[in-house]
Amino acid sequence: MIGKKIYLRILEKSDIINTQKWINNPEISSIMGYLPNKPLIQQEHWYDSIINDPSRDIFAICKIDNDEHIGNVALGNIDFISRNAALSIFIIERINRGKGYGTEALILLLDYAFNRLNLHKVYLRTSPNFIEAISVYRKLGFIEEGRLREHYFCNGIYQDKILFGLLREEFQANCK
Ligand SMILES: CC(C)(COP(=O)(O)OP(=O)(O)OC[C@H]1O[C@@H](n2cnc3c(N)ncnc32)[C@H](O)[C@@H]1OP(=O)(O)O)[C@@H](O)C(=O)NCCC(=O)NCCS
Repeated sequence: MIGKKIYLRILEKSDIINTQKWINNPEISSIMGYLPNKPLIQQEHWYDSIINDPSRDIFAICKIDNDEHIGNVALGNIDFISRNAALSIFIIERINRGKGYGTEALILLLDYAFNRLNLHKVYLRTSPNFIEAISVYRKLGFIEEGRLREHYFCNGIYQDKILFGLLREEFQANCK
């Protein structure tokens, strides 16, 4: 899936060298809820389990100009009866954030979710502190659906999570 500045490709087994380093990055592990210090062998088992799992699609976000793999974007819990899925995204280095890559990656992923998988809804949970992420979700038309109180334990405290959802027709109205 190709955009203007980035493209999405299926995460390859060779990418887990990168993703293992990323999971052990303290910022990303706390944002994404990963427990750090995962050995590479565990990442290999994780990759083997997800690659044949029809309820998950994980893509590498790569820059068009130099093919650099800058982050991942994924659909999980894909439910082909209720036709919905949970979205997640991260761009690892701050230098690559705020340049429009995340917005473009999400538009490509949502187009895949709604127009290839024929999903009806994509949803996610995020922290109220993730201002940049929330601003991107709202820009793409996601609607706040509720708040899970003290739902997420990290760095010694319980934090709220906000639920956002986007219906297919909302995406089509916002991203024409
Ligand atoms: C969330 C994330 C994927 C967004 O990707 P990105 O490439 O940085 O996003 P973009 O550059 O496309 O857009 C960023 C938007 O945030 C807005 N923004 C930046 N700082 C902001 C602030 N302090 N307040 C409000 N909006 C802000 C920008 O204005 C921009 O919107 P614009 O297109 O209207 O200019 C990326 O920042 C990231 O990986 N963050 C860490 C991991 C994370 O939070 N993942 C989401 C967990 S739910």
